[in-house]
Amino acid sequence: MRIVITGASSGLGEALALHYAKEGHSLVLIARRADRLEAVAEQCRRAGAEVETIEADVTDFGRMRQIGEMLANDRIDRIILNAGMSLGHGGGVTPFEDFERLFATNFLSVHALLEPTIPKLTEQKKGEIVFISSLASLLSMPTSIAYSSSKRALNAYAEGLHYQLSPHGIKVMTIMPGFIDSEMTQKNRFKMPFFMSTEEGVRRIVRAIGRQKHRYAFPFRFYLMIRIVSMLPQPLRDKIVHFTNFKKGA
Ligand SMILES: NC(=O)c1ccc[n+]([C@@H]2O[C@H](COP(=O)([O-])OP(=O)(O)OC[C@H]3O[C@@H](n4cnc5c(N)ncnc54)[C@H](OP(=O)(O)O)[C@@H]3O)[C@@H](O)[C@H]2O)c1
Repeated sequence: MRIVITGASSGLGEALALHYAKEGHSLVLIARRADRLEAVAEQCRRAGAEVETIEADVTDFGRMRQIGEMLANDRIDRIILNAGMSLGHGGGVTPFEDFERLFATNFLSVHALLEPTIPKLTEQKKGEIVFISSLASLLSMPTSIAYSSSKRALNAYAEGLHYQLSPHGIKVMTIMPGFIDSEMTQKNRFKMPFFMSTEEGVRRIVRAIGRQKHRYAFPFRFYLMIRIVSMLPQPLRDKIVHFTNFKKGA
């Protein structure tokens, strides 16, 4: 398989790359930090994979479209849209520039890369697009409004794309993880419920992708709690959200 992974220089993207390298797939890895990306690529090559690295900022939409066109010159079996950022969980109003950068990274970049690659996938009549969303897309907390909004937008995009592309044999998958150990969560200064190691998180993501799950939210108990809270009457929801947010120290 030829697998494209954005945000492959650390965390989930790095672990996914190493996993698929060991299975002998051919990889295209994208991220900004060239040294980190090259180190990941080297490990993947040692595991026997053929690896191409592309140093790129996903918010450079022109470049992302060029990369998409370049990718479309060859077979594409799976694209994992994993590059993402958070702004931490601070209080107060998010400055517009931060909000814009976050949306560009977590959401708009996705369409910049996919616009030129979707025609190739439909022509192939097979292929997989995997979005790394988040459980945060299901419940917006007062301290992570931008992040939750970007991931919810991603879910909506993935849903529409599924309806558009499934008649052409393309599988669109949305993965919604809870808290997993990575550079992103290492910045958090609050107790993260159901916190999971990178290995365990990636093991579950890989399994869900292998089973071509349309939507996969985990850990299940955390997902269930969020779903239950979402169904409660608003005054009760308010109390729970404010209580958990208070515990974050925000
Ligand atoms: N860890 C969690 O608990 C968790 C939970 C739910 C969802 N997620 C999602 O999982 C994905 C991976 O995050 P992670 O936890 O593995 O965090 P991470 O270790 O911080 O990885 C983020 C990756 O995204 C890349 N990236 C960020 N901004 C970029 C940009 N402008 N251009 C190109 N690449 C960029 C980073 O590479 P460079 O800095 O080298 O560019 C890095 O490889 C994200 O979409 C995140 O929202 C994570």
